[in-house]
Amino acid sequence: MLWPLLLLLWLWGPLSALAQGAPAWTAQAEDVVDLEFFTEQLLHLVSPSFLSITIDANLATDPRFLTFLGSPKLRTLARALSPAYLRFGGTKTDFLIFDPKKEPTLEERSYWQSQVNHDTCQSEPISIDVMRKLQGEWPFLELMLLREQYQKKFKNSTYSTIFVDMLYSFAKCSGLDLIFGLNALLRTPDLRWNSSNAQLLLDYCASKGYNISWELGNEPNSFWKKAHISIDGLQLGKDFVELHKLLQKSAFKDAKLYGPDIGQPRGKTVKLLRSFLKAGGQVIDSVTWHHYYLDGRIATKEDFLSSDVLDTFILSVRKILKVTKEMRPRKTVWLGETSSAYGGGAPLLSNTFVAGFMWLDKLGISAQMGIQVVMRQVFFGAGKYHLVDENFTPLPDYWLSLLFKKLVGPQVLMAQVKGPDRSKLRVYLHCTNTHHPRYQEGDLTLYALNLHNVTKRLKLPYLLFNKPVDKYLLKPLGPDGLLSKSVQLNGETLKMVDDQTLPALTEKPLRPGSSLGMPAFSYGFFVIRNAKIAACL
Ligand SMILES: *[C@@H]1O[C@H](CO)[C@@H](O)[C@H](O)[C@H]1NC(C)=O
Ligand SMILES: *[C@@H]1O[C@H](CO)[C@@H](O)[C@H](O)[C@H]1NC(C)=O
Ligand SMILES: *[C@@H]1O[C@H](CO)[C@@H](O)[C@H](O)[C@H]1NC(C)=O
Ligand SMILES: *[C@@H]1O[C@H](CO)[C@@H](O)[C@H](O)[C@H]1NC(C)=O
Repeated sequence: MLWPLLLLLWLWGPLSALAQGAPAWTAQAEDVVDLEFFTEQLLHLVSPSFLSITIDANLATDPRFLTFLGSPKLRTLARALSPAYLRFGGTKTDFLIFDPKKEPTLEERSYWQSQVNHDTCQSEPISIDVMRKLQGEWPFLELMLLREQYQKKFKNSTYSTIFVDMLYSFAKCSGLDLIFGLNALLRTPDLRWNSSNAQLLLDYCASKGYNISWELGNEPNSFWKKAHISIDGLQLGKDFVELHKLLQKSAFKDAKLYGPDIGQPRGKTVKLLRSFLKAGGQVIDSVTWHHYYLDGRIATKEDFLSSDVLDTFILSVRKILKVTKEMRPRKTVWLGETSSAYGGGAPLLSNTFVAGFMWLDKLGISAQMGIQVVMRQVFFGAGKYHLVDENFTPLPDYWLSLLFKKLVGPQVLMAQVKGPDRSKLRVYLHCTNTHHPRYQEGDLTLYALNLHNVTKRLKLPYLLFNKPVDKYLLKPLGPDGLLSKSVQLNGETLKMVDDQTLPALTEKPLRPGSSLGMPAFSYGFFVIRNAKIAACL
């Protein structure tokens, strides 16, 4: 309750002058609410790759599973989210060692024969037998990874050149920009970063002409827990400077470097960020940090629907922005890894419709507060927070992400619900993505989530009242209700037409002048056409 109010006050100063003529607030039926738009000026301009995705480095634990990345269906799904970054990282980042001499096993070789071909990007469909075998073994890999995570006992794994080729091919052929996390736990006896393994990888990638951006280490604030090595921000900053030097001397002179990928901004971690930025902040292109609302083992459905839980994110963003502003005011801030719940997500929650409230709200708040890029953990892989499951079936958060990509532009404006209680009816406003053939410059996209258990009707501000509006409303399908893995867009169930074809995302035009209906526990997008907003032109 408190945070939206504070956020509002915080935003109010620069914005109050910009409010456009909206009608006076009048008392009305409880389920009708007036919207107020602030469209005079852009609040922020975020990256065209604002919504980006990750693949967890734990996929390298058993490289046979990389075979999945050759799936034409998976690539079709990934390509639809482009432009986006693909971050390859996670805890395993700091336990992976590149071995250029490592040969794939016979089994791996037989799976991968036709997969690595990013000049043509013609990957052969994976044989059904191989697929069945790997899918059958997948649960065992997941169990092993979970066990590693909970016991905090991580083993080193090595990866081969063909592993790098497969990963790069997936990114390239899906139109994604690869960000690769280098192992920061390779240390010299005096605890400086030992860059020799990174050098091997850089040399290999340069020899292949790969275009990759880099990170160094994952959640260095918890290195002690994971590996009994403690690295402070000063040392980590020096390590980044060292990596930057290597890049300068290589074919990666112009490559981007992101970091330090710290976890939640609690006391010790904020201190680490501060000293890191002081010692090494000059060599990074963006400040990256990670966010999860909850522990996946204990999270409940009520948590997923709680506006108080959603609001906790605002506090975390504010802490990161404050430190960055103090130490490196010109650096942009990215969410380098984020999802609903850590530990692989919450079973039956993170992979169902209900997860969309957290995802859409996080995108909205991030844009509104000026986070440039938000990388969703994970696109595909172990755990329950994936966008696409192990059978390559897109889950509700995939469809939500796809709609966001298609409809929401990088220019951020602001909308708010009039009246005292805004916490359960959350609204965000951007210019419309003009790559969408139906829309033009000056159009607006409003996205909203209704956490009330009754329908709410949103009324557009007076000046836009009569504009044509396209509705894109998402609701869960079937008896599982909010815990459904299927979703309907305007009443049509979303599913792929075939392995290479996504369904049309069809709008429902509203009669001009009608209010925007949001059923209980739903979310969606409204494109206000012909709005002719100057800030969007
Ligand atoms: C991983 O390998 C590095 C370099 O050989 C070594 O320093 C480290 O102790 C190993 N970690 C584990 C968990 O075996
Ligand atoms: C760095 O690691 C490599 C490979 O393990 C090793 O040969 C080299 O001696 C290490 N360098 C330092 C300074 O520790
Ligand atoms: C590498 O990729 C980045 C991001 O897409 C792009 O901006 C840059 O031009 C590319 N560089 C080369 C040499 O292709
Ligand atoms: C809706 O929520 C309110 C409390 O916010 C509760 O009193 C009411 O019983 C709920 N109604 C339904 C239909 O669940």
